[in-house]
Amino acid sequence: MPKPILISGIQPSGKLHIGNYLGALKNFVGLQNSGKYECYFFIADLHALTENPEAKNLRESAINLKADFLAVGLDPKKSTLFVQSKIQPVQELKWILSTLTPVSELLRMTAFKEKVLQPLTAPEREKITKEKFDEIVEKSNFGLAEYPILMAADILIYDAQFVPVGDDQLQHLELARTLARKFNSKFGKILVAPKPLLTGFSRVMSLSDPAKKMSKSEPSGCLFLDDKPEVIKSKVMKAVTDSGTDVRYDEKEKPGISNLLKIYSAFDGSSITHIEKRFAGKGYGDFKQSLAEMISEKLAPFQKAKSKLIKSPAVNRAFDVGAVKASVKAKAKLAKIKKAIGIA
Ligand code: ADP
Ligand code: TRP
Repeated sequence: MPKPILISGIQPSGKLHIGNYLGALKNFVGLQNSGKYECYFFIADLHALTENPEAKNLRESAINLKADFLAVGLDPKKSTLFVQSKIQPVQELKWILSTLTPVSELLRMTAFKEKVLQPLTAPEREKITKEKFDEIVEKSNFGLAEYPILMAADILIYDAQFVPVGDDQLQHLELARTLARKFNSKFGKILVAPKPLLTGFSRVMSLSDPAKKMSKSEPSGCLFLDDKPEVIKSKVMKAVTDSGTDVRYDEKEKPGISNLLKIYSAFDGSSITHIEKRFAGKGYGDFKQSLAEMISEKLAPFQKAKSKLIKSPAVNRAFDVGAVKASVKAKAKLAKIKKAIGIA
């Protein structure tokens, strides 16, 4: 029995932080090693262009992310790893799918709205009129609107059944499912409607503001996978905590400490209750000190592996081999799709 196909992509849009690792990459490695799926993981460089049209540092970010993929444990012997822009047939499928997509579907996407409204302050966003919103949309780059169609093509071209994503991507995945169904009802049962695989891991919050998610757009609240022990220590010691002194999980009353406890548990593997017991009677300072040391220790093997990989030609080779494999599959699928439509 062939294994079900699973696919996911990550944008090369800067350094990875522990939110990216705990919320996405760690899960990818687990899925790969479960042996249950035929896995495809890729670097979504074309998607990154939508927010970085000058392609600033894109090459460097992509090289970095390739090394990150391998250093966290994605293995080219087990998974097909590649860079999105190398797979030409996806572009043709994207065009075909775009002819099945109402423009209104794209403009109502939450991620699209958030991205076009990003330059506004929160109160400005809340008070925005329909006229002002339309004016902003008209000026935004079209790639931001097309984004979910490219994502649908990325998935549908490989007949992927499963897509591990964060909840921010669910709406995009729903569009991919709708497009698969629409295509099939017009042209016959050709495309597979993919299902999301949610990580189940709730968001890692910012160290400087536990009400916001940890994001590279706010580096001071972020622990990057490449951060050295001194930097980790300084960021963790400065992390915003709550009133009181006891190390106790309570998301409502103690969002700062609760976030740190979650991070502790995710890296260390022990339960939150166990960690609470370990720090009973001790203050925030002791807890933070131990957290910083533990994270540095856990990241050390990754950092060591990455520093070797980044200089090694084997990294590019692994992604080139993956791209060839993915292209063969994508070409064959595109041929079937075009035949069903009657254009080839
Ligand atoms: P950022 O917000 O730093 O720009 P991205 O949007 O590029 O991060 O996210 C890349 C991947 O990492 C996505 O799969 C996303 O769900 C996951 N991710 C990002 N931030 C977090 C977080 N704070 N906690 C958990 N997962 C996260
Ligand atoms: N949009 C996804 C993100 O930013 C990245 C992505 C592009 C993706 N194509 C995909 C994820 C296909 C899963 C499947 O996180």
